[in-house]
Amino acid sequence: MNFVIAADYNALSSAAADRIESLARAKPNAALGLPTGETPVGVYREFARRVRESRLPLPLGEGRGEGLDLSHLTIFVLDEYLDVGRGDPRCLADWLDRDLIRPCEIAPGRVHVFDGLSAEPTLTCAEYEAAIVEVGGIDLQLLGLGPNGHVGFNEPGSRPDSRSRVVRLAAESIASNARYWGGPDRVPRYGLTMGLATLRQAREILLLVSGANKAKILREVVEGPMTNDVPASLLRDHPNVTVMADREAAADL
Ligand code: F6R
Repeated sequence: MNFVIAADYNALSSAAADRIESLARAKPNAALGLPTGETPVGVYREFARRVRESRLPLPLGEGRGEGLDLSHLTIFVLDEYLDVGRGDPRCLADWLDRDLIRPCEIAPGRVHVFDGLSAEPTLTCAEYEAAIVEVGGIDLQLLGLGPNGHVGFNEPGSRPDSRSRVVRLAAESIASNARYWGGPDRVPRYGLTMGLATLRQAREILLLVSGANKAKILREVVEGPMTNDVPASLLRDHPNVTVMADREAAADL
């Protein structure tokens, strides 16, 4: 497990944007797995700023800058609520669309999303796994950390060999997601998520952790036992996983 401890949220966002940018330059056809939530908002904002800047005309009429070409990237959205479709204010795919896909002018056809309205969610999950295999696997998987140690919607009790599937949200996740949607009653009870085995197959994982309220759980993830009760702890023996935390989140390590 590698560690990058950033001074604050802006520095964390900038360090993660650096990693995405260097991958996008080194491997233009890379596949990224991306979460929503509050933690990566700054990363996406900073990355989108760089993309826009890279495409500005050069001074002195020298044409355009060496713009970041994202037309060959593939993106997999980490998770989605069940029974929630595009256009619903709670749709996680729309959230990523607003924060990253549209600001970076990434073609919607390059973005894989779970269809929360699928009549056959189990089949949808199997197709998601197949789509990841088809592009040759995920190069870089970004993750946020839930207050109960969840990653994606892999709630406590999730097995390390779990694949994309329908899951029931834990009470703690419903409570913490309530802040996004104006109350716990607005939070769907089920979600579709990439599984822990799916995440562990990514060539590189960045676990982004910000804020004092994540300090205790981050300590459990890093220093406690590797256990299904703290799903993020099951990523610890991945050969290329980096915890990127700000100082507040890393305070108890
Ligand atoms: C989001 C997701 C969740 C969040 C986690 C942390 O797609 O899968 O696991 O990453 O709940 O959320 P924030 O960043 O809002 O604290």
